[in-house]
Amino acid sequence: MKTIELSPLSIGEKQAWLNHAIGPRPIAFVSTVDAGGNANLSPFSFFNLFSYDPSVVIFSTVRKVRDNSIKHTLENLLQVPEAVINICDINMVQQVSLASGEYPKGVDEFIKAGFTKQPATLVQPPMVKEAGIKLECRVMEVKSLGEHGGAGQLVIAEVLLLHVDESLLNDDGNMIDQLKTKHVSRMGGNWYAAINETNLFTVPRPGARPGIGFDGLPQSIRNSNLLTGNNLAMLAGVAEIPVVNAGFEDNRLKNIVQYYAINPDEMEKELHLYAKELLEQNRIEDAWQVLLYAAG
Ligand SMILES: Cc1cc2nc3c(=O)[nH]c(=O)nc-3n(C[C@H](O)[C@H](O)[C@H](O)COP(=O)(O)O)c2cc1C
Repeated sequence: MKTIELSPLSIGEKQAWLNHAIGPRPIAFVSTVDAGGNANLSPFSFFNLFSYDPSVVIFSTVRKVRDNSIKHTLENLLQVPEAVINICDINMVQQVSLASGEYPKGVDEFIKAGFTKQPATLVQPPMVKEAGIKLECRVMEVKSLGEHGGAGQLVIAEVLLLHVDESLLNDDGNMIDQLKTKHVSRMGGNWYAAINETNLFTVPRPGARPGIGFDGLPQSIRNSNLLTGNNLAMLAGVAEIPVVNAGFEDNRLKNIVQYYAINPDEMEKELHLYAKELLEQNRIEDAWQVLLYAAG
């Protein structure tokens, strides 16, 4: 393991290490206005959801390292404490990047980056018409994490209204369909990550009865050289160790048992490999049956 002590590093080095290590980060594309009503639009990937009730999001505008000035977004928020957070998706990511350019104060990034203004309902800043998801927010508090260049200025904001394009909803129209949102997130350097059906997957949540845990697994399974931490965690998620199901009919299991009958070590290895395959297909109950057979 390489160990990186952060304190002796330059701000740029800290930025590089931390941005590469902590990702993907969702991108808030933030619209604000100054006291004169002039719009500003900038992306911030130091952003997330922190509370449901009240509904609170936080994003961080970092003081510029070059001259320690604050970002126009923050200047605006100190004048008009309202924002629209437009969620960045794959269809707009290049325009979002364009909007992050250091334009002089007063330049409207809606125009520079080719976005269309759409009036918000409860707040003054305009929404980005092209964004599928937008959050109308009121600033609750600005919390400074330091007075020097590189120091984050947290904008803690309550979400007052959520807008979701109909095309992003499920067939019943009562929830966002995660396969349709196409969110884009930020990694280190110039890397971004796009969420789509090829990389989305589900992980079952522990139920009302939590899983038996790694320490509840039989030794022969827990100490397997073939099953990974992810494989074991799926097995350890059951509320109790399943019983052997005499009715479990499986040709592959039968073949392994017949073929390796004279070599128990090889048989265990093959059964663990088969269980691993089943787990990778999310067939947890079947994997347990194979492993229970292996455990004898
Ligand atoms: C995808 C992306 C994410 C960014 N995230 C942040 C961030 O979290 N905090 C920050 O201070 N700047 C971030 N930036 C840089 C700002 O967008 C950039 O400094 C912008 O010019 C600020 O605009 P403003 O001065 O008009 O507010 C990000 C840039 C991009 C392209």
